[in-house]
Amino acid sequence: MYKIAVLVSGSGSDLQSIIDAVESGYVNCTIKAVISDKPDVYALERAKNKGIQTYVFDRKVYGKNISEEILKVTEGNVDLIVLAGFLSILSEKLIKKFSNRIINIHPSLIPSFCGNGMYGLKVHQAAIDYGVKFSGCTVHFVDEGTDTGAIILQQVVPVLESDTAETLQKRVLEEEHKILPKAVKLLAEGNVKIDGRKVYIGGV
Ligand code: GRF
Repeated sequence: MYKIAVLVSGSGSDLQSIIDAVESGYVNCTIKAVISDKPDVYALERAKNKGIQTYVFDRKVYGKNISEEILKVTEGNVDLIVLAGFLSILSEKLIKKFSNRIINIHPSLIPSFCGNGMYGLKVHQAAIDYGVKFSGCTVHFVDEGTDTGAIILQQVVPVLESDTAETLQKRVLEEEHKILPKAVKLLAEGNVKIDGRKVYIGGV
């Protein structure tokens, strides 16, 4: 059975989309661990409600050493690490050890509105301020840069003239909750091939 760990920092709606996909049988995998870099986030409740093992490595306590703790939990235990609204930076060592086995979801069409400091509502405000007609979300592999790894899946959503950062965020989130479980499914089924920056999807 394909095994994953999900890393979170917030409410965990993206985590929930994976939990639901596993429960419905859409994705054939086990969520071995949910790891948070903040205590008391709702994502932890979502995991505990389903009996999933949780770990908290508070970024205020662990700082840059957080990746060492994550490695202890994941190395040899999981096939894939999923960043689902996780805000800490991972070490080069962890990224190398899990080369092409860490994915992230970002709420824009990369390479627009991404990189350092681009998270949460800031991403959507930047898209609105720029005047783009479409935004969306991206699932990508994690490399040493911020939001620079090879792109696995993207989904487009329209930006409306009446949009606020909040309304755009909501529209994008609905699509995140579809493409994140889909990416996990494709990986779990061995239907993702990587060639440099190009990712080829099979079996869809
Ligand atoms: C999403 O916008 C995701 O793209 C970003 O964090 C948000 C999800 O938060 N990286 P959560 O899953 O509800 O905690």
